Amino acid sequence: MINNIPGWMTSRDLDILSKLSSLCPENSSILEVGSFLGRSTYSLYKNKKDSVSLSVIDTFEISNTYNTDVENFKYKLDGDPTLALEASALSEKENSWLSGFKLCLGEDVYTNININVCTSSQYNKTKDFELVFIDGGHDRDTVLHDIDKFVTPTNLLIGDDFGAQYMKYMGLIDAVSYSKIKYNRTLVCLDNSRLWMLIPNTGYWKEALSVL
Ligand SMILES: C[S@@+](CC[C@H](N)C(=O)[O-])C[C@H]1O[C@@H](n2cnc3c(N)ncnc32)[C@H](O)[C@@H]1O
Repeated sequence: MINNIPGWMTSRDLDILSKLSSLCPENSSILEVGSFLGRSTYSLYKNKKDSVSLSVIDTFEISNTYNTDVENFKYKLDGDPTLALEASALSEKENSWLSGFKLCLGEDVYTNININVCTSSQYNKTKDFELVFIDGGHDRDTVLHDIDKFVTPTNLLIGDDFGAQYMKYMGLIDAVSYSKIKYNRTLVCLDNSRLWMLIPNTGYWKEALSVL
């Protein structure tokens, strides 16, 4: 199924996310920080093994940055524009993007995801995640926080917007680069992609991604 859920991520980056989630070992766990309407969530979900769980964290808060006035969004959303309008109207009515998230993903996917409505710092972490996709707050401190909170010696960390609108995301780029040194990871950014990956230098992901 084509991913028509409104959002900013490119098809290429969504494909990369899907491929990586399909590589997660049986019975492991995936975490997404920052879901918005579920564009990346769906790509993480659709090719994962059935035994692999997917958890998401988002405040789903309607704010100046993520407002429901989609026709006048300062930023361009990819995906289905009609669905974007429906999702924003519903979310405005319910005063949370969570309603739009549910609409876009559909009942089946929605009920199979572990949803946490909070900030990443409020989230009560009780287990490790094999793959973590970080696309919540993009300022330096929040990205550092999210990496520090969810990194393990062997898990794969991925995030969006490395190099997108360079000046705007310098804090994010700085945080990722700093973490590359701090955690002795391989930092990979593929061509025509805004994704960053911090690949561990030991364990499953080192072998699985050695072709890169
Ligand atoms: C760039 S959007 C995510 C886009 C999404 N990955 C997609 O594919 O469309 C960032 C999201 O992160 C959420 N967010 C921002 N700061 C956050 C934080 N500190 N903790 C949790 N969620 C946060 C926002 O509510 C927003 O929905």
